[in-house]
Amino acid sequence: MRRLLQSLFGTSTPAAPPAPAPVEPPPAEPVETPPVDPNIRPLEPRIGNALEGLPLTPESLTEVMRSPVADELDAYFSDYPPTSLMGGRSRALLFALVRMQRPAVAAEVGTLNGGGAEVITRALWENGDGFLHTTDPFGAERCPEIFARWPGELRRLVEFHPLNSMDFFLKLHHRRVALDFVLVDGDHDYELALFDLQMAARLLRPGGIVVMNDSVQTGPFQAAKTFLAANPAWRELGTAIASYDENTPFAGGRASQHGTGFAVLQAPSHWSIGAIPRSWGQAPIAAPLVEGLSLEALPQVTSGHLHYQAILRLFGDGPPQEAKRVGVIPVSLDGSARTLAHELAQPMKFQASANAIDPRSTFEIELCWQADPDAPPLALASLPLPLPSRAGS
Ligand SMILES: C[S@@+](CC[C@H](N)C(=O)[O-])C[C@H]1O[C@@H](n2cnc3c(N)ncnc32)[C@H](O)[C@@H]1O
Repeated sequence: MRRLLQSLFGTSTPAAPPAPAPVEPPPAEPVETPPVDPNIRPLEPRIGNALEGLPLTPESLTEVMRSPVADELDAYFSDYPPTSLMGGRSRALLFALVRMQRPAVAAEVGTLNGGGAEVITRALWENGDGFLHTTDPFGAERCPEIFARWPGELRRLVEFHPLNSMDFFLKLHHRRVALDFVLVDGDHDYELALFDLQMAARLLRPGGIVVMNDSVQTGPFQAAKTFLAANPAWRELGTAIASYDENTPFAGGRASQHGTGFAVLQAPSHWSIGAIPRSWGQAPIAAPLVEGLSLEALPQVTSGHLHYQAILRLFGDGPPQEAKRVGVIPVSLDGSARTLAHELAQPMKFQASANAIDPRSTFEIELCWQADPDAPPLALASLPLPLPSRAGS
């Protein structure tokens, strides 16, 4: 070795060998940005500026759709975008709804060629805020190419998912995405439209909007009607469902706003607990310990009994562990807001095994409201939280 070093560096003590020259990464392949689709209109000039700041109520929406701003939107959307299957007035209403509601997160079931997605995304861009998730199980080949040719300002506001609506809503649920606005425009059969509406409602924040497209068709219309009957705290932004006549079940023109194909439904501005027991799914919790429940009741006059089933689960090595507590909380509210703290008769607790890899706990609450005679549904400001308040969500 000494000889080898001497032959390389002479007889003097060799300096440390020079550091190897940094390996240059190969030049990156140029990313081909496809040219913007010339059929897409520029974003400027902006449209519908008069919608800025308007509230979204049944009255205000009907007024807007009769006002000059609706004429402006009708003119803009009458034959645009050509890739959309909706009628021009439906597109105008879609744009107005997104401008007025200002959703942080919107979703669309049924992307097709991205026409409805473009209307929603244009309105989000004008709002200066918001993001759209859109899904189509038959669009894996087609849709990414379409969105790649949108102008960057719009493209950045949309994520395409090549999924059917069941996988789509489950994916959003697992990502813990809460929605504000959903356009249901996938399969129009009653059962599928109702499923999409129910899943949209499940992920919706209070005050959120669901638009059922093609409400002139039996499936979406009857789905909206079934849903409203089961969820009386919701309301229609229009009168198509209230004015349904069983003597003329196939009469045309069944739309919330004249000239459109939409049934527009709005969630209550709070969490409304009714007579049908329901769950909001499992949410992660920091530690597998629940000693009680905390409820934030809004100012209201109501009384009755709140039935609950609280479920704690622990996932680790071995089979999942599950504990349940069932109980009833008598509630009487005289008009002021109240925080109700309810202790479980017996706390729920698990010990994660010392060698469990990545133990995870979840909490799920099921509720239903047994109202006293003539008392309204219970209005909560937020979903019940487990006590102690060490929830991970
Ligand atoms: C009426 S088109 C949608 C039109 C589009 N929203 C627009 O504004 O132009 C219905 C789309 O729903 C898609 N679809 C069908 N079944 C679906 C499902 N189970 N989940 C999601 N999308 C579905 C179809 O592939 C089709 O592209």
